[in-house]
Amino acid sequence: MKLIRLRIENDAMDIAYHPVSGQAATAHYLIAYNSDQTIGENLENIKVRLAGLQFDAAILENGLSYPFSDTIVGVNYDRIDVGLALTNLLNIPVVSQAAVDQLGLVAAVKAKSAYLKWHLDYYGQYHGVRNNGQEAMLTIGNGYFGLRGAFLESHADKDNYPGTYVAGVYDQTTTTVHDHQVKNEDLVNLPNAQFMTFGIDHQTPFTLNEHDLQDAYRSLDLKTGLLTTTKLIQLASGHQLRIRSQKVANMRDWHRYSIRYQVTPLNFAGSLQIYTEIDGSVVNSNVSRYNVFDQHHLKTMGIETAANTVYLSGQTKSSHINYTIGAKLTSPDVPAIENFNSTQQPQGVQQTVSLAVEAGKTYTFDKNVVIATSNDHSDPQLTHVQAELDQSSFDNTVTTSKDYWEATWRATDIKIRGDITSQRLLRVNIYHSFVSAAAIESGQLDASVGARGLHGEAYRGHVFWDEMFILPFYTLHRPELAKQLLAYRYRRLPMARKNAEAEGYAGAMYPWQSASKGDEQSQFTHLNPITKTWDPDNSRLQRHVSLDIAYNVWFYYHVTQDRDFLTHYGMEMLLSIAAFWISKADYDQANGRYNISGVMGPDEFHENYPNSTTAGLKNNAYTNIMVAWLFDTITTLRAQMPQAAFQAAAQAAQFDSTAEQALTTISHQLTLEINRRGIIAQFEGYFNLPTLDFQAYRQKYGDIARMDRILKAESKTPDAYQVAKQADALMAFYNFDVTTVQKIIEKMGYQLPKEYLTHNIQYYLARTTHGSTLSRIVYAVLNQLDDNDDDAWKLFSEALASDYYDIQGGTTAEGIHLGVMCATLNLTTRNFGGVNPLGAHLQVNPRLPEHWQTLKFKHLFRGVHYVFVIDHQRVTVTADQPSTIMIGKQHYQLQAKKPLSVTYTD
Ligand code: BGC
Repeated sequence: MKLIRLRIENDAMDIAYHPVSGQAATAHYLIAYNSDQTIGENLENIKVRLAGLQFDAAILENGLSYPFSDTIVGVNYDRIDVGLALTNLLNIPVVSQAAVDQLGLVAAVKAKSAYLKWHLDYYGQYHGVRNNGQEAMLTIGNGYFGLRGAFLESHADKDNYPGTYVAGVYDQTTTTVHDHQVKNEDLVNLPNAQFMTFGIDHQTPFTLNEHDLQDAYRSLDLKTGLLTTTKLIQLASGHQLRIRSQKVANMRDWHRYSIRYQVTPLNFAGSLQIYTEIDGSVVNSNVSRYNVFDQHHLKTMGIETAANTVYLSGQTKSSHINYTIGAKLTSPDVPAIENFNSTQQPQGVQQTVSLAVEAGKTYTFDKNVVIATSNDHSDPQLTHVQAELDQSSFDNTVTTSKDYWEATWRATDIKIRGDITSQRLLRVNIYHSFVSAAAIESGQLDASVGARGLHGEAYRGHVFWDEMFILPFYTLHRPELAKQLLAYRYRRLPMARKNAEAEGYAGAMYPWQSASKGDEQSQFTHLNPITKTWDPDNSRLQRHVSLDIAYNVWFYYHVTQDRDFLTHYGMEMLLSIAAFWISKADYDQANGRYNISGVMGPDEFHENYPNSTTAGLKNNAYTNIMVAWLFDTITTLRAQMPQAAFQAAAQAAQFDSTAEQALTTISHQLTLEINRRGIIAQFEGYFNLPTLDFQAYRQKYGDIARMDRILKAESKTPDAYQVAKQADALMAFYNFDVTTVQKIIEKMGYQLPKEYLTHNIQYYLARTTHGSTLSRIVYAVLNQLDDNDDDAWKLFSEALASDYYDIQGGTTAEGIHLGVMCATLNLTTRNFGGVNPLGAHLQVNPRLPEHWQTLKFKHLFRGVHYVFVIDHQRVTVTADQPSTIMIGKQHYQLQAKKPLSVTYTD
């Protein structure tokens, strides 16, 4: 093993390089600190100084001894977890000398690597959006609720935001702003029942503050779903305590969660108080830019208390959803129930318990919580909540969580050898994908996945086209879950028809932002902060969302062959969406082609033509390609369905024979603008727009991701330039393989020159700022298609870590970006693993990143469970039933449970 040994001193880092462990160092580096930088920034210098050297692990010689980590060091009155920092920086495990002494080097490194791959840990106390981002990343939940990973002792303030959300619980408010009535539908932040704190000798209860909180270590165990926080506290009074708290969501009875709160007085004996609360006074204030709008959604209706149990019932203000939250506090250290007190507060209810404590002993308090609402099939009646509480226990909740996650990891894990960081972050993403959706699989919830999960309030918990980046992962692993998410859309088909009708169109028009009912939740105007005028907001013109839903319907059916779904739901959705596009396409006598106007593509920088009073754009390439694809797909699927089943779906969709004929005519005659080099114009007229001097803007502003804001601040508009927030014209190449897209375009009567793909990718990449995190994912795929593996890897790894590092500087604080998270999973299996599910059989063409030694994952395709193990030479695949697969250009017949190994050239 190649090693570095390091000592972190007060003024410098001392590093020795051992190319062979156990032998003398061949090089020494003394890296003096730069006093203008933090210790974390100084650590980054290691990367530069050691550039070019190869090492597999680091040994930290002077780690402090803590119960939660052995790689923390103290430097100049500051402390840092060097292990966590260096693992992030160098992608290697860092072990302590103490662990090496105890276990031996090889075992210590192995244990640390295993730990790192299954834990998301943060050390220290952070402030503002940085802490809020960590709260989002440490969210626990089960798809019914999401509970942000805030410190239990916190109330919402500038540093902390303990949000609680239940899927599908939305509420509308109307606020008058600058003479304008603005309606907002929010995913409601429900009463905070996770609050717990302590006090000593009946003094003021502890509140989080920098002086008293000496150390805080938060660790989310991805394997079990358990979030553990350890705090070392020294009060101004001299009392020292260790507080260890654990939070876990019940993954079977999803109205429940449990908290274990353990207090160890370290240097005193005396009287300890535990305070817990259900706080009904909370508002939706996670996103500061929404603070001008009414944030109050809750009306507390009743509070009940009984010894160790409390209940808070209420109703959301305009959606009138009833909720009851119950909490029960128990402790093995306080056997007498009379010792628990409950007191009502104006907007909440508090429980307290007091006991005599001794130094060095640990006192345990369990708080079990039940949340029920009238929105799902749960019963918010008190007796029901009480019955659930009576069945709850911390240990039982832990068991459900362990069982669920064990089964989930068995079916969905992606295993990588050779890259700790990617391994850990892919697991973080899988974890959050189920935190956001697990319970929906039951079919008892009417909800889908919001763009920001159940983790924060950005985009008000709305559902976007992001589903298209999310569903493929579920479809290939948990098809029932994917189906239930599509059912959310199916139930809103009548509303989508109304949306279309209201704008004078036939068929179904899904909203750009969807919430409880499926009506449009995007704003139609927004307040210009500079001019204080209400300007039009055209973002809802991203009508492609209906096509993205159609893609999800098709993908689900394609992968599962669920005929019942296609017959009873899917085809009706596809036809209804198609009917909308037929009515939206206009025939142009002059050139004998169809045009689609008044739309926006995914690139949100272009809402309309500069100097035009008409909203939207004409012939957006992505939209038109997807319309052509949908129309052809309907014809293909129709041939696979019994005549009567198709007729029934057509009737339900009011799709008559004229519409059917229009499918072929329109799909082959839609308009694209393609120049001589084969560049597909994002929309008609795009080539006439001036280019921007990106270099100059970069020099002036540094980060130009949100070029729209920069230009608007300069009184310009992004509409007027060739600048894109995210992939648009080339999006179809993300959805399908190149041949499919090329065929669609050729069927439309356009010829593409050789090298057109490379030209397009280079052209658009040079004009894209990646202002949406979704952009990196799409361009990672595009770069790989263009054989540019280096840039593909760069964009993928930035996307993979985008929430972990909160690369947009504060947006993770307002919820994770679920679309990107799930898309990284898809990209790993489809592009790096090269397992393409778009054909009739799985096709395998691996392109592993160089440093990944092996990649292992499962797929469920057309009823067959496949296991893939891929390295740089060989694909090994096992199926549980006989099936056909393509590896490279060759077909193989798999026998049930017999592994097939095929060598391929990388
Ligand atoms: C992106 C959209 C996305 C939305 C929600 C925006 O920033 O431009 O494509 O749907 O975020 O994630």
